[in-house]
Amino acid sequence: MTNTCTPFTFVHSNRRIISAWKGIDKLSDLAREAKATSAAVVMDAFFENTEVAAHICQLLHDATGSTPAVHFVPAHEPDTATIEACRDVLAACSPDFIVALGGGSAMDTAKVARLLLANPGTAESVSGFGKFFKPHASVLVAVPTTAGTGSEVSESAVAGKAGSDIKLIFRSPEMTPHIALLDGSLSLSAPAKVTAASGYDAVTHAVEAYVSKAASVMSDPFAESAMRLLGKWLPVAYKEPSHQDARSWCLIASCQAAIAFNSANLGLAHALAAPLGALYHVPHGLGNALALPAVAAFNEAAMGPKAAVVAHALGAMSAAAALSKLRWQLDLDLSLDGFVTTDEAREQLAQAAMKSGQVRMNPRLATIDDMRGIVAAMRTPTGG
Ligand SMILES: NC(=O)c1ccc[n+]([C@@H]2O[C@H](COP(=O)([O-])OP(=O)(O)OC[C@H]3O[C@@H](n4cnc5c(N)ncnc54)[C@H](O)[C@@H]3O)[C@@H](O)[C@H]2O)c1
Ligand SMILES: [Fe+2]
Repeated sequence: MTNTCTPFTFVHSNRRIISAWKGIDKLSDLAREAKATSAAVVMDAFFENTEVAAHICQLLHDATGSTPAVHFVPAHEPDTATIEACRDVLAACSPDFIVALGGGSAMDTAKVARLLLANPGTAESVSGFGKFFKPHASVLVAVPTTAGTGSEVSESAVAGKAGSDIKLIFRSPEMTPHIALLDGSLSLSAPAKVTAASGYDAVTHAVEAYVSKAASVMSDPFAESAMRLLGKWLPVAYKEPSHQDARSWCLIASCQAAIAFNSANLGLAHALAAPLGALYHVPHGLGNALALPAVAAFNEAAMGPKAAVVAHALGAMSAAAALSKLRWQLDLDLSLDGFVTTDEAREQLAQAAMKSGQVRMNPRLATIDDMRGIVAAMRTPTGG
């Protein structure tokens, strides 16, 4: 007798996700519910001197009776120095309610900085997997302004090691925000390039989680829904930045994709995007866009019936064709040669990608020669 119920592990964090246009207004009620007396806001520097920043401070002042501490995170991908600077600001005000607002960079910075409040040390000392950390007593509300990394629901964060070419990964359930507040109105100001790159990151999360060796009956519905929503709405958000439906659905989809990858993990595209960011400063989403169609072509035979689901969800005859088309629609159909220019550098990229734990989660086992083949394929734009 067969048992078709394959074993799985799925992280169900029992946290809250709130989605509403202008949902940011709910911050007052959330702070009151938490009986907060000392709030802090960690915000992407883009929002400095904006009405959004002033409005959030007012909402938190209304709820707590005091002006929140505000820290603006530099508008680039964080490193350990960025995190430690944020930790110092938070430590000085002992917050019991922390709002992390921005793209993945600002949210990741706040998540690790808050972890350090309860687990003193350098940012590097809390990097890695499988470590035990003390919880911090504050309530953490994450508000994404890109769609996106899904950092608002994931237990992970990524940051460079200051002064080096190394990317550190942080992973702990103690970093998962208590509340994810999805407010599409906050992503209206995202420049087209950011919408495209962060949106393709979300697509990559959905696809890689869906075909991962750790995918399960619990993660698949989230990944599948994210693919369908992004296939429909991401090109709209890119071409019509003020489209409210497109902005809202992309945020929901990026959140779903992160719920999926938080348990199902990722694959070769993310294994390549990390060293592309660390060594060649390629933005994370763009790195995924350079890699994913070539990775999907490599994986296709190992994806089984899921290949057709990916193709159908994204509207083409094959997964690789669908992902190429979407990349082209977002003006991300670029050659790797624009970023990595020599044979030596391409070899370094392939070697670095092979060291990622995500290689083991990929549906098809890749050798170093396979990785070299994928890197070679990334040199040629696919042209939609
Ligand atoms: N924690 C996770 O699970 C996870 C997952 C994937 C990626 N990441 C990390 O997240 C980072 C990338 O995050 P991202 O793609 O969201 O980009 P980002 O946070 O780096 O932001 C990109 C740019 O867009 C600007 N920006 C963001 N929102 C804006 C808005 N609404 N209006 C105007 N400008 C805006 C920022 O100031 C910045 O200049 C990388 O460090 C990546 O490694 C984390
Ligand atoms: Fe990613």
